This record gives sequence, structure tokens and C-alpha cells, in this order.
Amino acid sequence: MDIIRVEGGHRLSGGVRVSGAKNSALKLMAATLLAPGRTTLENVPNISDVHVMGKVLKRMGATIEVVDEHRLAIDTSAVDSWEAPYELVAKMRASTAVMGPLLGRFGRAKIAMPGGCNLGARKIDMHILGLEALGVKFDTDHGYIHADASEGLTGTTVTLEFASVGATENLIMAAVRAKGTTVIDNAAREPEIVDLACMLNEMGAKIVGAGSPVVQIEGVEELHPVTHRVIGDRIEAGTFIVAGALMAEDGDIEVTGFNAAHLGMVIKKFELMGVQIDRIEGGVRVHRADVLQPVDIQTLPFPGFPTDMQAQAMVLSALADGSSVITENIFENRFMFASELVRMGASIRIESHHAIIHGVQGLSGAQVVSPDLRGGAALVVAGLIADGYTEVSAIHHIDRGYEHFVEKLVSLGAHVARVNVPDPSDD
Ligand code: EPU
Repeated sequence: MDIIRVEGGHRLSGGVRVSGAKNSALKLMAATLLAPGRTTLENVPNISDVHVMGKVLKRMGATIEVVDEHRLAIDTSAVDSWEAPYELVAKMRASTAVMGPLLGRFGRAKIAMPGGCNLGARKIDMHILGLEALGVKFDTDHGYIHADASEGLTGTTVTLEFASVGATENLIMAAVRAKGTTVIDNAAREPEIVDLACMLNEMGAKIVGAGSPVVQIEGVEELHPVTHRVIGDRIEAGTFIVAGALMAEDGDIEVTGFNAAHLGMVIKKFELMGVQIDRIEGGVRVHRADVLQPVDIQTLPFPGFPTDMQAQAMVLSALADGSSVITENIFENRFMFASELVRMGASIRIESHHAIIHGVQGLSGAQVVSPDLRGGAALVVAGLIADGYTEVSAIHHIDRGYEHFVEKLVSLGAHVARVNVPDPSDD
């Protein structure tokens, strides 16, 4: 099995360019189902979740040409199946993003029920309630959701109970082909949703308000293929900012390839902790001269502090001069990472959805298990400052969302390697 081995204590310097945003690319790939013909996506990250979404589309009859490492040409003209099978949905919940576009174009979809995941129960009830309001009939059997809109979709007002990213996206992708106007009230405002709406509008859709809590979609008869560039990954950028804040002592690192406005609250909180973050062309420069200060953070939908940066922020607060509180409001089970960080010497107490972190002087390298995608990346970053060696296993989680993570860290001067070791469970 592969692990990531980190030798702590090496200063970082130089620059790193982040890849395209995972959570944008996956939805843009799903959205190509709406436009028969060849859509080209640029700046697509080469990560395993993108490969899974590629498989989902191919199973339906799409063809995908890998033009180069970051450019995919997806042709959905010949799609003749409407099913996202269990083995792929179980690998990646975001496969459910094909439901909206399939209903928009074909009026039907069969999607394996995603079930829970290592972040908690993660229901899709809001997707279903919203699509029902547009006229979709749902039925479930043998672990599958059957969605039928053969009588057409009709625009209406949908008020979401919570600003769910996935529900907002599925609703937008169905509503672009509905009769009349759909209004999504309490829509999620994440930059990846704006990216999706931009591409759909380039394809001929009529969406206004994406990025605000009220999105209005006027249905159109057809969408056409386009060439679109995926936005930069704000969470990958945030992860490298944390690495720089920890290890760019007496110097700085530059993180580019993303829009710093997409990380507003993260930058604000890190600045309060004493990290200096200057805006530069296409990104930021990160520097820290002083001791890290404690901070209180609560995760919230955009423009609040992203849950996807919670674990990385916990690494910083674990080394602050005082006590911090991090409150997780989005997922019910996203503190599994904390117990791994405790194995590295952090002092963290979990009380319900609050983590109380008492800063320590230093971390000590240890063998730890990546609990999920962001937690895994955060453990590697923690290893950069820890004393001795840190070995992070279950790194398939990290491969889901970070392209060339080890190589990028090495280019900044980190001593990190991907190593193949015998699997202890084989004994
Ligand atoms: N929820 C429901 N019912 C629903 C939909 C959501 O109860 O119908 C709950 C979820 O269980 C969760 C919360 O609402 O507790 C937020 O879910 P949301 O729908 O906003 O998230 P998502 O679409 O499932 C996306 C990202 C996540 C990111 C969240 C929040 C993708 C593929 N995933 O998930 O990214 O954390 O939004 O910003 O876009 C990651 O990249 O590591 C990751 C987990």
C-alpha cells in the first residue's frame, strides 16, 4: 500500500500553482449531459474523483477524449442510459450530480442511493423535494432512486431548508430545461455554483443570481456544447496557505492559480492568527513572522468559513499560543481527523460539534490514518512541522482531490515522499 512519509522541519519557499477546482469540475462534467455534442473542459484537475465521474458518464454512453492532462473533450450525443450505478456512487457521492442534467435532457434518471459516508449521514432529501416541486416523480427500489419527469419539468419557486451545494446544483441543472421560470430561494452561493451557472449560460441557459441566495432560471429548449475553463481550487489553495503559514518562516511562499476573493473568510481568520497574506496577481503571498494566535472559527456555507478548510485550520490552531474553538456546522461527523492530530501531540477536546484546541509548543511525527480527503491533506501538512517522521496512510482519500500533492510540496522544499510499504493487514 502507498503511504505519504513526511520528514518535518524543512522550511518552505517558492511558489505553487493550484489545479482546477474538484467541486467545480465534477459538476461541469455532469452538466455536459445537457448539451449534446462535444464540450471541452480546460483546467480539469487530474484526480481520482474526476476519473470516477468520467466512468459514470462513459457508462451512460458518453465519449471522453483526454486532450491533454488538464483538458477533457466530452461528447454526450450518444448517451442512451440514464443510470448512475451503485459501484460508482458508492465510490463518489458527487455522482448524484448527474440526476439534474439527466432529468433536464431525458426526463428520467436512475441513481443508486448514496447512503452515509465518513462525514455523516449526508442525505439528499432536499434534492428530491426540490425536483418534486418541478414535477419529478420519485420511486425507490433495491437501493436505487428512479426519477421520472416524462411529462416535462415545470418551473416553480423552491425554498431550500438549508443552502445545500448539491441540491442547488441539481436543481439548476434540471431547471435550465423546465417550462417557465424556476426560482431557488436560499440557494447555496459557493464559487463553484457560479462557475456552473457561467458554463450553462455559455451553453444557452438563462440563469441570473448565481452566487446570491436567490437564483432565477428561465427554461430553454436546448443547450449547445462549449469550451469552458474550470476555476482554480480555493480549498487546495487554502491547504497550501496553511503549509506556508507553518513553514515559510523568515520568508514566504506564493500560492497562485485561484481567485483570492473565493477565500475571503479563510484569509480573514488566518490574518487574525498572525499570518500575513498579501494579494498578488492570480493568488496570494503567505508569510508569518510572529507566534500564531488562537482563533474562534465556525464553518458555514459560503461566504462563511468552509467546512473543507476546517481540518487544515485545526492544524494551525493546534500550534497557537492559547486556546481556540472550532465549531463544525455543516457535517455531523467531521472531527475524526482531530484524534489523529492528537496522536501527533495536539491537545484537542471534542464536545458535540465543537473542538476546543489548546495550543502546544510543537507536534511530534507519528503514524496516522487519513480519515477523509481534507483531513488526510491536513495530516500531511501537520507532518511538515512535526518533529521527525510522519507517515500518513489511507492516502487514496487525498488522491481524490489533490493533484500531484506530494510533488507540489516537494517543489516548495518539503521533504515528502510517496512510499510503497507492505500492508500490515496482509500478515
Ligand atoms: N444535506 C441534507 N439534505 C440534502 C442535502 C444536504 O441534509 O438534501 C446536508 C448534508 O448531509 C450536509 C449539509 O447538508 O450535512 C451540507 O451538504 P451540501 O449539500 O451543501 O454539500 P454537498 O453538495 O454534499 C459539497 C462538496 C463538499 C463540501 C460541501 C459543503 C462537492 C462534490 N462536495 O458537498 O466537499 O464540503 O459541499 O461546502 O461539491 C470535499 O471536497 O472534501 C467535500 C466534502
